[in-house]
Amino acid sequence: MILPSHIAIIMDGNGRWGLKKYNDRNKGHYYGLQNINKVIEHCIKLKIKYLTLYTFSTENWNRPKKEINYLFYLFKYFYKKNFNKLNKNNIRIKFIGDLINIPKDLKPIIKKIQEKTKKNNAITVVFAFNYGAKSELINAFKSILKNKNKVINEELITNNLYTKNIPDPDILIRTGGNKRLSNFLLWQLSYAELFFVNKNWPDFNFLDLKKIVNTFTSIKRKFGGLNE
Ligand code: FPP
Repeated sequence: MILPSHIAIIMDGNGRWGLKKYNDRNKGHYYGLQNINKVIEHCIKLKIKYLTLYTFSTENWNRPKKEINYLFYLFKYFYKKNFNKLNKNNIRIKFIGDLINIPKDLKPIIKKIQEKTKKNNAITVVFAFNYGAKSELINAFKSILKNKNKVINEELITNNLYTKNIPDPDILIRTGGNKRLSNFLLWQLSYAELFFVNKNWPDFNFLDLKKIVNTFTSIKRKFGGLNE
């Protein structure tokens, strides 16, 4: 039985959840953040080594300013409330995305989180923040051009992505009921098994995750071959 080593999640449905329960989209983000902490624990229990979470996409700038500001506020809240515990629990945290064009006050926090947790090894949690797969690929091609690389191959592109040194996800989970990839890890998800869950993110729980992991272990992955 092969266990997944990397799970990537599109945590969709926060807004709908918040509107339905509290008539407030931002409340959905708040409880979505609480669920991140729980799901990290679940993943450790299931011996997952990498968890990548889509926290803010390059397209999320199109949302109302109030919601964007709340997400950035939550980011700082997350750091204040959870960082020490996550660090103590041996969790390594990484960020991928365009970390240049983000609010100035978040940059030193990101730097500190990555630096302080870099030797932790219970699990690596990757926050995709101001992330978009298309701009990630454009950046990769730009740096390949700049370095005048003559031989273009899979390894070269992989090594120029934000996810350099992170194995590709085995599983993609999207909550919230929609079946799309929304510009998330388009290169890295080439051979991932896709799971779409009808629950909104704040309601996604250990049993949901366990069921997905169990299903994954029963799938014969062929990577384009026959694998009889
Ligand atoms: C998608 O739901 C969710 C997001 C755009 C943000 C995800 C953020 C969190 C879970 C919490 C914030 C965490 C950090 C670390 C800042 P949606 O708003 O698109 O939901 P909808 O489809 O119901 O509108």
